[in-house]
Amino acid sequence: MKFFVDTAEVSEIRTLAEAGLVDGVTTNPSLIAKSGRKMAEVIAEICAITPGPVSAEVTATDFETMLAEGRYLRGIAGNVAVKVPLTEAGLRTCRALANEGTPVNVTLCFSAAQALLAAKAGAAFISPFVGRLDDISTDGMGLIADIVQIYRNYPHLKTEVLVASVRHPMHLVQAAKLGAHVATLPPAVIRQLLKHPLTDSGLSAFLADWKKTGQSIL
Ligand code: E4P
Repeated sequence: MKFFVDTAEVSEIRTLAEAGLVDGVTTNPSLIAKSGRKMAEVIAEICAITPGPVSAEVTATDFETMLAEGRYLRGIAGNVAVKVPLTEAGLRTCRALANEGTPVNVTLCFSAAQALLAAKAGAAFISPFVGRLDDISTDGMGLIADIVQIYRNYPHLKTEVLVASVRHPMHLVQAAKLGAHVATLPPAVIRQLLKHPLTDSGLSAFLADWKKTGQSIL
């Protein structure tokens, strides 16, 4: 399973990439706004850190402007994946960019029917938002199960399921058990994945015993 990092904070991405935990990055207009930086600069810096796909989202809502924005974003670096919303204009843009060889991440997916449409439009990735579905008392992970099953039924569909709006470690574990291709994780969730009380207590005991020996390795 590939791990993408869901942030526009360059220092976070750099640190996680040093540990080999970054296969790609996703951003969205809210994350760019949170960074307080110019979008093109941030995307260029992130693309230099990771060779994996870096999703940069269009902000227009009409086809012509979306397509122009998508081409501009793709021009920033060869590893940009253009992110478009799951609207009719978004799917037209997806097909046009895919025909030009640009990978497209179709975002704001909340149903299996939408995911099927995105695959037909040539999306490289579909981003179902599990956390936002859970927030409205709907089973986000059930949607992942449905999309994985539907895509498996039609092997000619090459769209990868990119689990988005991940809020906690169990979202990741469940998505991996279902066979989703990718999960995009906020840095805080990646750090939560690391934690186990037995790791902490085991390390404390090892260090206490080591101290008693009076030795040092270096
Ligand atoms: C990623 O592509 C999405 O934009 C992101 O995961 C949304 O997460 P949120 O629902 O926590 O904002």
